Amino acid sequence: MTSNRKKPEELRSHRWYGVNDLRSFGHRSRTAQMGYHSSDYRGKPVIAVLNTWSEINPCHTHFKQRVEEVKRGIWQAGGFPVEMPVMTLAEPFQKPTTMLYRNFLAMEVEEVLRSYPFDGCVLMGGCDKTTPGLLMGAISMDVPAIYLPAGPMLRGDWNGRTLGSGSDTWKYWAELRAGRITEDEWKGVESGIARSPGHCMTMGTASTMTSAAEALGMTLPGFASIPAVDSRHAQYASLTGQRIVEMVWTDLKPSDILTPTSFDNAVTTVLAMSGSTNAIVHLVAVARRAGVPLTTARFDELARVTPVIGNIRPAGKYLMEDFFYAGGLRALLAELGDLIDRSQLTVNGATLGENIEGAEIFNDDVIRRRDNPLVPNDGLAVLTGNLAPDGAVIKPAAMEAHLLKHRGRAVVFRDYADMAARIDDEALDVSADSVIVLQHAGPVGAPGMPEWGQLPIPQKLLKQGVRDMVRISDARMSGTSYGACVLHVAPESFVGGPLSLVRDGDIVELDVPARRLHLDVGDDELAARRAAWTPPKRPFERGFGVMHQLHVTQADKGCDFDFLEEKTATGGEPDIH
Ligand code: FES
Repeated sequence: MTSNRKKPEELRSHRWYGVNDLRSFGHRSRTAQMGYHSSDYRGKPVIAVLNTWSEINPCHTHFKQRVEEVKRGIWQAGGFPVEMPVMTLAEPFQKPTTMLYRNFLAMEVEEVLRSYPFDGCVLMGGCDKTTPGLLMGAISMDVPAIYLPAGPMLRGDWNGRTLGSGSDTWKYWAELRAGRITEDEWKGVESGIARSPGHCMTMGTASTMTSAAEALGMTLPGFASIPAVDSRHAQYASLTGQRIVEMVWTDLKPSDILTPTSFDNAVTTVLAMSGSTNAIVHLVAVARRAGVPLTTARFDELARVTPVIGNIRPAGKYLMEDFFYAGGLRALLAELGDLIDRSQLTVNGATLGENIEGAEIFNDDVIRRRDNPLVPNDGLAVLTGNLAPDGAVIKPAAMEAHLLKHRGRAVVFRDYADMAARIDDEALDVSADSVIVLQHAGPVGAPGMPEWGQLPIPQKLLKQGVRDMVRISDARMSGTSYGACVLHVAPESFVGGPLSLVRDGDIVELDVPARRLHLDVGDDELAARRAAWTPPKRPFERGFGVMHQLHVTQADKGCDFDFLEEKTATGGEPDIH
């Protein structure tokens, strides 16, 4: 960070507005056309408010109002706000998966910031992939940027029971399939599980990534935990608008904030909250954009020493609303003590340590003390072996403990359609000890690495009372899910990874304590299977999907596009004249 304040003529937007030539005449006259007098923008930072609001994103319903509060803050601080809609990624609606479009959003953010006269930006996101998508684009452009998290929705409610996003969907769906609840009761769950604006209020990808963004130093302190409908959320939106203007004058950019240590803080935060496994893919991608070589192995190293102290579903008991009342992320970070590096700079110009100073826990069952954790370590584990040479991921805190070490016969499905057609077949040769394998669910093959990783338990086993079994795929899994699901197997089966060679009846060994995933088939037999393997036809023939299948990296590299991972020497700034 430079210590000097910028002068108005040093603003990036000066090239559009401040010079006297034919083009700048056009910029000013067209701004006047929109009803602005030159005193509205002359010599002021132009702030893009990148808004992922849309009528199909239930998690961002309140952004239509929040953007006005952000703009109010920008005006107050002497900036010129410009709302810029960018692609919404609405987790429940976008097919085949929002993950296919995370990089699309990142590209859009980068190009919007590059091509328009913006000096800084507010990033408005929250629903799962919006957080990494917005951050990745802004980091690549490296103009001052501050993140505005959507905030979690209120607790779900049905017949006196508290419902959690996703987790209770899977739970009651299993109960319905097992015949333990009625269709009417299922409809009651449907109407009560999501009852306010805001992102999923379990420790899904949204809560995980917004908390990670705060731990990275990219949000105002305490913001990520505030429920979407709480009036303090609106107040923080205004403060965020105020703050970005000052960040422009002091030239405080993502590259001043994001370091290997700030990413360690984010990873530790995710682990301490038993966050979504998706955070691995996203944080690796975000870090690589920032020039930080974060690896999946680093997640495993930090997992071994990080206690899970956020008692939030699905690994724990409570929801994000409870977490906020218990002290929120500031309290959790303070409790983590020496596991967090407090020297890291954040968007408000203070260090993380200064921001969490004095934070208190008000309910130490929701945010556990370090000496009374939910589990002492291993919130996530990274596995390797001949079935996953570049790694795979499992969430030991959210699975039945007896499956941590397991040997079983593979029951293989060649793709999702095959699994949907046969999983509930009474004749399927499967038992509680079997290992269910799904192929072709990775970044290229599915396409887009959907959240199919919580593979369904066959109905006949559900009726016998089976609620967890070992399942393996190259897919991701919703952070609201649970179970002994091995995910992100890399390289994926569609491009010839060893998962493509598994056959019915093969013995698979899972050993989480040893971090091992092994296919117990001889090397000669595997070589013969590999020689007989032929690459399947790629899924896309046109559009963005073609770019995706040509350039997406594997899960251990973050599934970014290979041509966007690295910074270029110039940052790609155009000569606007
Ligand atoms: Fe938007 Fe879960 S559906 S965060």
